[in-house]
Amino acid sequence: MTDTDRQYWEERLRRFGQEHLLRFWPELSSQQRAALIEDLKQIPFEQLRGLIETHVRNRPSIVVPGSIAPAPFFPAKPDIHLAGRYADAIRRGEWLIRQNKVAALTVAGGQGTRLGFEGPKGAYPIAPVTNKCLFQLFAEFIRGTRARYGSQTRWYIMTSPTNDAETRAFFDAHGYFGLPREDVVFFTQGQMPALSPDGKILLDQKHRVALSPDGHGGTLRALAGSGALRDMAERGIEYISYFQVDNPLVKPIDPLFIGLHDMTGSEMSSKTVTKVDDFERVGNFVVADGKLMVIEYSDLPEELAVARNGDGSRKFDLGSIAIHVLSRRFVERLTADADAFALPWHRADKRVPYVDEGGQRISPDRPNAVKLETFIFDAIPLAGNPIVLQTVRAEEFSPVKNASGVDSAATSRRDMIRRAAAWLERCGYDVPRRPDGEPDATIEISPLLALDAAHLREVLSSPPAIARGQAVYLDRDQTHAGSSARVSR
Ligand code: UD1
Repeated sequence: MTDTDRQYWEERLRRFGQEHLLRFWPELSSQQRAALIEDLKQIPFEQLRGLIETHVRNRPSIVVPGSIAPAPFFPAKPDIHLAGRYADAIRRGEWLIRQNKVAALTVAGGQGTRLGFEGPKGAYPIAPVTNKCLFQLFAEFIRGTRARYGSQTRWYIMTSPTNDAETRAFFDAHGYFGLPREDVVFFTQGQMPALSPDGKILLDQKHRVALSPDGHGGTLRALAGSGALRDMAERGIEYISYFQVDNPLVKPIDPLFIGLHDMTGSEMSSKTVTKVDDFERVGNFVVADGKLMVIEYSDLPEELAVARNGDGSRKFDLGSIAIHVLSRRFVERLTADADAFALPWHRADKRVPYVDEGGQRISPDRPNAVKLETFIFDAIPLAGNPIVLQTVRAEEFSPVKNASGVDSAATSRRDMIRRAAAWLERCGYDVPRRPDGEPDATIEISPLLALDAAHLREVLSSPPAIARGQAVYLDRDQTHAGSSARVSR
């Protein structure tokens, strides 16, 4: 680190009122100085200056739309008029997949703090019999898709600077879960510093800035900035099938959804499920001032959350499950001037450990800092003709967010078993059930065997024997029955 470097940063930081970040410089080793400079390089100071005024020192004023109405949607079960259109959409979607015009994209840059799991969240073991991790389930779904459609479907994975190296090493150690290595593309999202309420950037250590990922809205800029978007264009990929790392029930590639997106000329499409209660912690699809958008549960006024239709049903009932299809050209359009483009910023007040003026590291017990994030769903109102497709929760949504209780590993495994049992019964096979109706067996169906119930019917050659209390894993070699214990593979 030369004196010129130090001078450059001193001046730059002074210009933005952040000169305290070099407070401990004299006592840092040369390695630590280099690490600090690397952190400083990541901070978009020019952009931050305005945000500190609008979002940190002041709270952004909440703009209440003049009119908020429930969003229109394509129903999970098509009526007689729509059935033909859905059949066409499936054929169209399958064709697009076969032509390699569709890629999967997982956002896996989050910190997963609520789950309390050390390591990238995608490495979390979740499958009820085999304990396969989230990444492996998605990889096998994509392999299953490639096999079914004879495609070379690629998988883009967004990491953050914090978990990028670990995520890549995890895939390396597991042979990319059977996918060709060159078809798994990692790209890294940006970070934002945590700020004190008076707008000062916090130090995590004397030589490290308190940085965290800039939200999944950062996907758009990261796609453009990393070259992933160009890579997609070069390969003729038109549609990006986007999903979060936390939902093992997701269909990473869904012909119906992709086909509808294409046939309606939508630039950004979304899946929804009906909410379990008025205050479920999911985003809400609404039409506000004539535009389709998502209002996060925390921002939906209570009178709207509890509002009812004439027949007593919930008025705002369309929960966002964070599954989207985005047109590549839409992302290109938005990010054409990547430096200027940003989705709206959201403020979150968080507990962030920091080093105080005297060099002491403080672990606060209440929120002391402001974090700034953008959300991917804020791109919906910017999209041409965005659509919403309703789906069935039991088929496609059971996220792992918390260590226990709702949306935990326990509820997600339960829902994987329930879905597997329902698929088998839909194929006409018997599944033992307990008096309370729950499956009386631990059942897991590999995505390498079947991608959905209809596919299972095509491929299952003989009825699986499932005894009460047994752990049963169905894969390409059909059935592996364990004793009453879990089979681990
Ligand atoms: C999110 C949505 C909510 C939706 C719900 C469905 C937000 C603000 N809310 O809630 O509308 O109903 O999922 O499950 O997103 N991620 C990154 N980089 C980041 C931040 C997050 O890649 O900087 C990824 C995470 O790895 C994860 C996903 O985004 O895959 C969701 O992030 P999380 O913060 O857990 O969202 P939720 O609050 O659970």
